Amino acid sequence: MFHSEGLKHSDVTPHSVYLTRRCALAALSALALPISRATAGQTTRFTSIAKPSLANVAKTSYGAGEALTPQSVVTGYNDFYEFGSAKDEPAQNAAKFVTSPWTITMDGEVSRPVTVDLDRVMKLAPLEERIYRHRCVEGWSMVVPWIGYSLSALLKQVQPTAKAKFVAFQTYFDAKKMPDAAALRFPYVEGLRLDEAMNPLTLLCVGLYGTPLPNQNGAPVRVIVPWKYGLKSIKSIVKITFQESMPATTWNTFNPVEYGFYSNVNPAIENYRWNQKDERRLGEFGKRPTQLFNGYIKEVASMYAGMDLKKNY
Ligand code: MTE
Repeated sequence: MFHSEGLKHSDVTPHSVYLTRRCALAALSALALPISRATAGQTTRFTSIAKPSLANVAKTSYGAGEALTPQSVVTGYNDFYEFGSAKDEPAQNAAKFVTSPWTITMDGEVSRPVTVDLDRVMKLAPLEERIYRHRCVEGWSMVVPWIGYSLSALLKQVQPTAKAKFVAFQTYFDAKKMPDAAALRFPYVEGLRLDEAMNPLTLLCVGLYGTPLPNQNGAPVRVIVPWKYGLKSIKSIVKITFQESMPATTWNTFNPVEYGFYSNVNPAIENYRWNQKDERRLGEFGKRPTQLFNGYIKEVASMYAGMDLKKNY
């Protein structure tokens, strides 16, 4: 539909012009999503051709205090199974992936479901650069200057109902454009508890190192959940659904023993395939101990107070 590589400018413009006129007032109003006309049970749809712009990205105090991983490593050593299962394949195979225009649909247990274009999403809150540790269950880690804003700013727009306990995310999928379609069950899906999704640390991410997200890193929009293993940081998101029940996740469906729903970084919980006690920072020699919640204890530990983290791995 909106990702067709064969889509011509003329195919899209009239519709977007039409929408622009029709919704001119709402569109010009403010930074907030123009969802005031949506009523329960209806989805408002606004689309246009987005060109992500990363002007005015504010530096923040979010910082790991550690040396950044070289950009070439962050953009050349990737997990994006839709584009291949070897680390160097996503950079090659995703090169032609068309990510504009792009919309995100938000639905489920919300008062105001909406399908919204990425350029509106990007204007919802000021963009910030945040330096986060990024740790994969496989035992490698990185330190990356991501760009985005707290996911909560987007989620609040649709007014989750009292029944919304979890947030489910879905990646775009088209087997014709994603060569490794057989590796896992796609579309790739992930989930967070509502409080995890609303935690200020959870980043709606549109860039890294001062540039829009490269395709292999999840263009044009992904989440980064820095206290969890990298698999929770789902890429190229097209759908966010609020729900009462715990969502299925791709890796948990693939192997429930190895990959739990929570997937919090925790050196005390063994994964029988991969070592969780320590990690290798890519680009460096030697290993360093892995920290509980990837070191973000102060920010997130209270969300798990009283929970048995061995059971809820
Ligand atoms: N999202 C999608 N859609 N497909 C994937 O295969 N891999 C996950 C996560 N998000 C993945 C995904 C895993 S296992 C990791 S470790 C991180 O993306 C890697 O992010 P990076 O390549 O930007 O370092």
